[in-house]
Amino acid sequence: MRISSIITAHAALSLQLLASCTPTGPNSNQSIVTKELTTSDGQTYVYDFTTAKNSSKPTLLLLHGYPASRHDWEQQITALAASGFGVIAPDLLGFGDSSKPTDLEAYNLKTLSDHLAQILDKEGLRDVVGVGHDWGANVLSRAVAWHPERFAKLVFVTVPYQPAGQFFDVDAANKGSLETVGYQRYAYWYFFNSWDAAELMGRYLESFFHLAFHTNASAWGVDFTDLGSARTWLNANTTTELPSWLSTDYKTKWLHQYSQPNALETSLNYYKALMRGIHAADESVLTDEDRTLRVPVLAVGAAKDLISDPEGQKIATEQWASAGFEQRVVDAGHWIAVEKGEELSRILIEFAGSG
Ligand SMILES: *[C@@H]1O[C@H](CO)[C@@H](O)[C@H](O)[C@H]1NC(C)=O
Ligand SMILES: *[C@@H]1O[C@H](CO)[C@@H](O)[C@H](O)[C@H]1NC(C)=O
Ligand SMILES: *[C@@H]1O[C@H](CO)[C@@H](O)[C@H](O)[C@H]1NC(C)=O
Ligand SMILES: *[C@@H]1O[C@H](CO)[C@@H](O)[C@H](O)[C@H]1NC(C)=O
Repeated sequence: MRISSIITAHAALSLQLLASCTPTGPNSNQSIVTKELTTSDGQTYVYDFTTAKNSSKPTLLLLHGYPASRHDWEQQITALAASGFGVIAPDLLGFGDSSKPTDLEAYNLKTLSDHLAQILDKEGLRDVVGVGHDWGANVLSRAVAWHPERFAKLVFVTVPYQPAGQFFDVDAANKGSLETVGYQRYAYWYFFNSWDAAELMGRYLESFFHLAFHTNASAWGVDFTDLGSARTWLNANTTTELPSWLSTDYKTKWLHQYSQPNALETSLNYYKALMRGIHAADESVLTDEDRTLRVPVLAVGAAKDLISDPEGQKIATEQWASAGFEQRVVDAGHWIAVEKGEELSRILIEFAGSG
């Protein structure tokens, strides 16, 4: 932890509730505005927002993954807004245009859950349909544990529900996947947890982009997730063509976002905070009762995602879903919101709009 960030945190805590919400300018789409909120503990969130044009339709809270940002949801934001739904799509703490505190304690998922509740308060929303992809699904899993009354339905995209207070054993997951699929699915976590990961990603930023958005989803095991693969890829400064489903504009925006001061370091803090048990003490009070999901749950699996297979997603999620569970499987890799944007939008519209 850095001394400057300790001082900042303490100064922020002593402030009165400082929730401001200023539109930072119209988006290219008329009804979608980009807004800003400063939380009671002094963090700034930037989010794309549109109010539900049909007041009997819910608002969806879209939480992006790593390494990504709220821009991943552009196709869904446009489609949902056009169908009368409301949308809130924030850059999570440490990402995009939101605050980037460097201390790990700032990434306690209880704190992030409280931040999301403050965004809903600011927009006058009692509850929303929560949608989380990748790390966003992990944040959503915690948000529903701490603020169950704020969620009418839940959608976990590509990855399963991750019950708060349950130890995620990276070593066991790697050992298991080595036996079942022949590569270590989460060995890249050890690289992400290492002291020089952000520096190496920054030095070979374009190479890191192409590693994350690989042209060949089936090669992710060997090129990215397996032990030593990510470091080897970066040290060779490997670059490739863009995948057919990604635009040059997406890459340009991404390179800009991850060139911002501390962006690589702070987005990695999600992994580091989980591996080092930053939320463990807070979550230790939670019981299986608290972890049980009491609203309808949809899992959207991606058939070609090597990090999380649809079958595993179903098994891990369904057992906690006490008020209904369904799964849709899309023929896509990990970045389903971009790769199969229309299909995901249709699925969300149907699920959010149903009884
Ligand atoms: C608004 O949404 C409700 C519920 O989905 C639907 O029954 C109704 O037809 C919609 N109204 C309009 C004007 O689209
Ligand atoms: C705005 O609309 C255009 C065209 O429908 C779409 O391509 C773009 O992604 C939208 N932008 C956002 C931020 O939703
Ligand atoms: C994609 O990667 C897999 C696994 O490494 C490989 O077997 C396959 O040939 C690759 N496909 C292409 C089109 O390169
Ligand atoms: C990595 O490769 C890119 C082009 O693919 C190049 O612009 C950049 O200078 C290289 N970086 C290093 C550190 O060699």
